Amino acid sequence: MIEPAIPEHLRQERTVPAKMPKNFTPQFSSYMARYPESTTDLVMAVFGAQFTNRRDDGKTSEALSKLTSFVSSELVDTSNQPRFHETASVVDASGYYNETLVAYWSSTAAYDRWTRDSGFTQWWEGLDPEKETHGWFIEVFLPSIDRIETIISNNKIAEGAVHLRESFSGPVLEHIYWGSMRDRLPASQTDPLTGSEVNWRAVECKSDKPRRVRVPGIRNLAVIRSGQDWADAHPEERELYHSEMHPTLTKGMNFLRDNGYEVGCFNCRLMDIMDPVTGKTDRDRTFGLAYFDELASLERWSKEHPTHLNIFNGFYKYVQKLHGVISLRLYHEVLVLKPEQQFFEYIGCHAATGVLTAVNGHPGL
Ligand code: HEM
Repeated sequence: MIEPAIPEHLRQERTVPAKMPKNFTPQFSSYMARYPESTTDLVMAVFGAQFTNRRDDGKTSEALSKLTSFVSSELVDTSNQPRFHETASVVDASGYYNETLVAYWSSTAAYDRWTRDSGFTQWWEGLDPEKETHGWFIEVFLPSIDRIETIISNNKIAEGAVHLRESFSGPVLEHIYWGSMRDRLPASQTDPLTGSEVNWRAVECKSDKPRRVRVPGIRNLAVIRSGQDWADAHPEERELYHSEMHPTLTKGMNFLRDNGYEVGCFNCRLMDIMDPVTGKTDRDRTFGLAYFDELASLERWSKEHPTHLNIFNGFYKYVQKLHGVISLRLYHEVLVLKPEQQFFEYIGCHAATGVLTAVNGHPGL
């Protein structure tokens, strides 16, 4: 049975009309995470270590081990640990190699207790930018439950925030039309979720010394984590994914990474899920992690820009070539955040890391 994307307890009388066309029925099934009714907020955090070069010694960095130690069960009261974490890496627009730990908590209260009880805050605050041999960053998102939506192509295997679910929804109505992402966000029922003007060249903040920089939250920042998992693809599908789908995805992500300022995107990383010990990225899973100045910009890019339209249309050709039977799994989670629901801090990172582009200007300019 098809069900509405917004669960009953979060439904409100709309003051902002939905985008769904009249008498709409989706052509295929997609699902959402259902969180316990008592959930008021969630946390997604990206902790990163930044290096000038990619490692080639078959190991991840000591920095990543350090970050991982804070979420390991020996050190922390398990009830405050993240409910899910994984490691991913990316070479960014400036050619730096970044190893990250992405972690999720079921509430800001649990996250706050973890930062204190694990010793993370004490350690983080003690880092001296001038003594560190590489960069560090944290990007933390604390959406209230009405400001996050997930959509996932299967109801068996969880990804990202879906790991925090109580259950999977049934097939949902609001997907596969432009604007459905917005319609799935409970906050959009009464709020147009507009951002604020961004002056990409706002402040020139050049410095010869490594520094600790905190970036204040940005009004209605839109964050998307959009994941691809082709681990179960048989050889024919795998070949097609590598020869057609992946190159198209990479082009789209490179556009956002290098020219994102043209469409309101502060930063985009196409991340490879990696083994936390060897650093190998052969897990057949990637995700695009992008930060936009507002939801409307993300909508516009996905609906109008050739780089996403090529991905979108390429997907239909892919399905057709495989006669409708595919193992590729797709999901995304979208967060639209109030300024106080964001925390960004960069220690000794280059000037175009993460949302530092909002302060320093975009590297493509
Ligand atoms: C929507 C395909 C990657 C941004 C969609 C939809 C499809 C699709 C089929 C419609 C989904 C639905 O409503 O059921 C793909 C494929 C990808 C991919 C095959 C990779 C192989 C990405 C990435 C981003 C992105 C990396 C951004 C970082 C969006 C957005 C929407 C969307 C924002 C929702 C638009 C709306 O509802 O208004 N994509 N996509 N996609 N995609 Fe992608």
